[in-house]
Amino acid sequence: MSFLKVKDLKVHYPIRGGFFNKVISNVYAVDGVNMEIEVGKTYGLVGESGSGKSTIGKAIMGLEKVTSGMVEYEGQELNLKRVGRKTKFRKDVQMIFQDSMSSLNPKKRVLDIIAEPIRNFENLTVTEERKKVLELLDIVGLDEESMYKYSFQFSGGQRQRIGVARAIATNPKLIIADEPVSALDLSVQAQVLNYMKEIQKKMGLSYIFISHDLGVVKHMCDHMYIMYKGRFVESGTREDIYDNPKHIYTKRLIAAIPDVNPKEKLKNKQNRLEIEKYYKENEKTYYDENNRVYDLRKISDTHYVAMKDEVE
Ligand SMILES: Nc1ncnc2c1ncn2[C@@H]1O[C@H](COP(=O)(O)OP(=O)(O)O)[C@@H](O)[C@H]1O
Ligand SMILES: [Mg+2]
Repeated sequence: MSFLKVKDLKVHYPIRGGFFNKVISNVYAVDGVNMEIEVGKTYGLVGESGSGKSTIGKAIMGLEKVTSGMVEYEGQELNLKRVGRKTKFRKDVQMIFQDSMSSLNPKKRVLDIIAEPIRNFENLTVTEERKKVLELLDIVGLDEESMYKYSFQFSGGQRQRIGVARAIATNPKLIIADEPVSALDLSVQAQVLNYMKEIQKKMGLSYIFISHDLGVVKHMCDHMYIMYKGRFVESGTREDIYDNPKHIYTKRLIAAIPDVNPKEKLKNKQNRLEIEKYYKENEKTYYDENNRVYDLRKISDTHYVAMKDEVE
């Protein structure tokens, strides 16, 4: 059962120009997407830069003006224009950003950064609050001293830990993680992903994990949404997407995952050439005359692909 649904969500940004600064066209940042989020699962939202991933995340959080469509939380439509600071939704759904340097207030100590969301929902004494923050720091592998430092005194990986501690402080149901490891070295990426997974097990959380890199989310996700130009080109379980990709764009993303060994390298190079050739011949199957991605069609209970004709 899904507790959060995104229904035909659209976010269009007007582009103004000319002498009278009129709206001359629109950026279709998000152009009709549907999502269903279940308890304890991880959803990958993957696509190249500019495809609209962050806009979806921000729209769900009520941080972006929605053109049409809606978000339903626990069976009720959210008023995205006015999600109050102290509502249950604010407690239950948290976000982590790629750039923790700019998203964590540099003038505040870690204690206050992590305690801030708790203060919206609970009236703890100073001692209780410290105890709670200490527990959270412990979960993400930081020591007590960290409480009294400022975010700029930490490394990138440590700052991401602080971001996670803050996000889980209210005991949320869902965390939207927008490229949480993209700015980190590969070795640190793996650490961060691992403890995010551990925390998920402990707390029964769901994640929407946003990434431009299909390789990063591969081991994390139960279900993936592949995004291109504001639309979903494919949606399916991890196996549907990795073992049986149907949309040409998904195939391209998979072929773009960096090669590990020399044998794979050669195979992937051939794959890539084949994909490009196939793409040139079959472009019309995937994009309509306006170069817009077709609507998703169901090809199995879990697998959806945006294609014009029945999938052969
Ligand atoms: N405030 C804005 N005004 C106009 N265009 C925007 C704005 N924010 C984002 N966009 C555009 O919307 C598209 C999607 O952006 P974004 O959601 O940030 O993509 P992603 O996170 O996948 O890189 C991009 O073309 C971007 O330039
Ligand atoms: Mg983004």
